[in-house]
Amino acid sequence: MSERLEDIAAAMVSGGKGLLAADESSGTIKKRFDVIGVESTADNRRDYREMMFRSKEAMSKYISGVILYDETIRQKAADGTTPLVDIIKASGAIPGIKVDLGAKPLAGFPGDTITEGLDGLRERLADYYKLGARFAKWRAVIDIDTSKGVPSANSIASNTHALARYAALCQEAGIVPIVEPEVLMDGAHSIDTCYDVSKATLVKLYDELYAARVILEGSILKPNMVISGKKSGKTDSPEEIAEKTIKLFREVVPSAVPGIAFLSGGQEDEEATANLNAINAIGPHPWKLTFSYGRALQAAPQKAWSGKASNVAAGQAAFTHRAHMNHLAALGKWQPALEKAA
Ligand code: 13P
Repeated sequence: MSERLEDIAAAMVSGGKGLLAADESSGTIKKRFDVIGVESTADNRRDYREMMFRSKEAMSKYISGVILYDETIRQKAADGTTPLVDIIKASGAIPGIKVDLGAKPLAGFPGDTITEGLDGLRERLADYYKLGARFAKWRAVIDIDTSKGVPSANSIASNTHALARYAALCQEAGIVPIVEPEVLMDGAHSIDTCYDVSKATLVKLYDELYAARVILEGSILKPNMVISGKKSGKTDSPEEIAEKTIKLFREVVPSAVPGIAFLSGGQEDEEATANLNAINAIGPHPWKLTFSYGRALQAAPQKAWSGKASNVAAGQAAFTHRAHMNHLAALGKWQPALEKAA
């Protein structure tokens, strides 16, 4: 495969393929395993992820790349010899790596966070490149609580500046940066507040990326959809989400960006698929719009697998189904009836 940043970025978002976000930190994967009653050991984490990476149909037809956690990019398969990265590459997908070190409280701004991990990043990127990573991810977390003045302008400025410094270092290392400014859907806010906060964040982000001389053609945006907060009690129609999300992107995301790969952010599996489909159904758009889902791709296979070797085929079938549905949604060709046909 070409090693040009532009070609890697294009391959990540083309043909209705999308990304599997399997980069849960040790703390997050433990929470997921707790739900299915599986102990979070290194071997169980390997077996679970190996199950997905060995899902031939999903990985070769629907998944363009996998975002890995530090442990996984260094881990061998259960056979004791094959690096998990080689299984991903053999399927035709591209290995990627989460490089941020998580969101910490932003000093002086209660309720805001700042994502850490810039110190030593140049050296870590060189190491990850050698291990096979050709793209990376950095997630900034922007919560909304308007009654408390969250997010502050300082939170947006600090987080987007960090994203730009990260993205420039990635490109220097020959790695495509996924820039992820996640405006959380956990709050009680309206869809229009989500729109306003997402807009302020993306405007600042593209200012910072420009100032840092990041080549937009060799970058991918990983945003939230424009959607009501979970605690608002409101469920928006896919059409309203699609209309407001695309209106926002047309205003602020340069057309030089090859692709936008959404996070699922706590949406239900089918909801995340229906919303992505509605977004693509109102195209054509200047960028490819696809998925980079964690929970919305993995909740079903986690449940089907539940830590038992005898359930590997069922886990793979559940993963393949969700990947297929999201592939169709990335092409605007998904229909609810296809869910039942599985
Ligand atoms: P979710 O799809 O579960 O939001 O995870 C995607 C991701 O990578 C968040 O950083």
